[in-house]
Amino acid sequence: MRPSSELLEALRAAPDAAAVLDALAPVSGVWVVGGAVRDVLLDREPRELDVVVEGDPAAALDALGGTAVAHDRFGTATVRPAHGRELDVVRARSESYPAPGALPEVRPGTLQEDLARRDVTVNAIALRVGGGPPELREVPGAREDLRTGLLRVMHDASFVDDPTRLWRVARYASRLGFTVEPRTAALAANADPGTVSGPRLGNELRLALREPDPLDVLRRARELNAGLLPESLTLTPPRLRDALALLPPDGRRDLVILAACAETMGAGEVVRWLDDLAFPAGDRDIVAAGSREMVRTPLRVASTNAEIGRAARGVPIEIVALAGGDNARRWIEELRHVRPAITGEDLLAAGIPQGPELGARLARALDARLDDRAVGREAELAVALEDER
Ligand code: CTP
Repeated sequence: MRPSSELLEALRAAPDAAAVLDALAPVSGVWVVGGAVRDVLLDREPRELDVVVEGDPAAALDALGGTAVAHDRFGTATVRPAHGRELDVVRARSESYPAPGALPEVRPGTLQEDLARRDVTVNAIALRVGGGPPELREVPGAREDLRTGLLRVMHDASFVDDPTRLWRVARYASRLGFTVEPRTAALAANADPGTVSGPRLGNELRLALREPDPLDVLRRARELNAGLLPESLTLTPPRLRDALALLPPDGRRDLVILAACAETMGAGEVVRWLDDLAFPAGDRDIVAAGSREMVRTPLRVASTNAEIGRAARGVPIEIVALAGGDNARRWIEELRHVRPAITGEDLLAAGIPQGPELGARLARALDARLDDRAVGREAELAVALEDER
């Protein structure tokens, strides 16, 4: 076990953490808690810091300077320090849940109560960073669970209070390679995710898709609780590997994964599901269309570059990647960047009036360029100005 002073040093590796830790060092009762402490104890790189203050957090907020961009009546705030990224500063609190899945009622509490309100033991470890030497506090058994790789909730009502924790456990199990402790697994299987709002569940699904191995997270989520994902969603999508290999860096990997899994669902069902989860309409449509043939067929039968262009132009790159095949590859790797050498200005100068006809003539020039029937500006212009046959 590393000494606490070394853990504090390791926390400084979190993005923009050094200045924050320096500013908080003289303030009494300041602790970093949760993921960052868990990660340094595991010798992993910490991500963002979550700060807990025992008592009034005003002195900690003053020390950080900058602006508090949100706060509640207990002085909890999201702070944007003068330098560096936003971080959450929370007054130590205890929570009670008025109804399953509802947001908690909160009152000020001790650090120990604040640890006890959390999701799993390995996230309920705090390291003092201000007002005294670095020191660890934890809920009973937390470091032992960390050492043996166990995800354990702290009490039997944990998933009833907050079913989003089902998703959190699935994410941690996948990311950290941890096992779900048997009692926790039994509680998870009996929980009802339906008590949480769709948007909150949607947020968890989006976080799952950003993990290093999203498909693994989805499988673990379904294993934990069958109600987290629609039954008709497949988690062994046959096209996924090829589609991800085709997807260029400017494409959205999360949407390709979800769309590949959703190919077994009807488009209407996908739309209803993602609307319930408050997915942005553009993302929803990509996932729903990814499960359709409307791009795959014309792309597959296209036999010239111009035909490939007509099938793929304007279609989100994720859908083209999912369609797969040689033509999708050619579009993504070569053709999608090709533009005509001439512009609308050239055609206006040649006397073509503004309007749909001009667009059609430009498209003709592009087709000729793609198919090597027109090489160079002059040749493109000649094609564009030909009268319709
Ligand atoms: N937490 C919780 N229950 C939730 C959400 C958060 O108990 N539904 C607690 C956990 O102790 C967690 C901390 O709040 O460690 C911070 O939450 P978050 O930033 O979402 O997670 P991290 O711990 O930072 O973990 P990671 O970013 O690695 O997912």
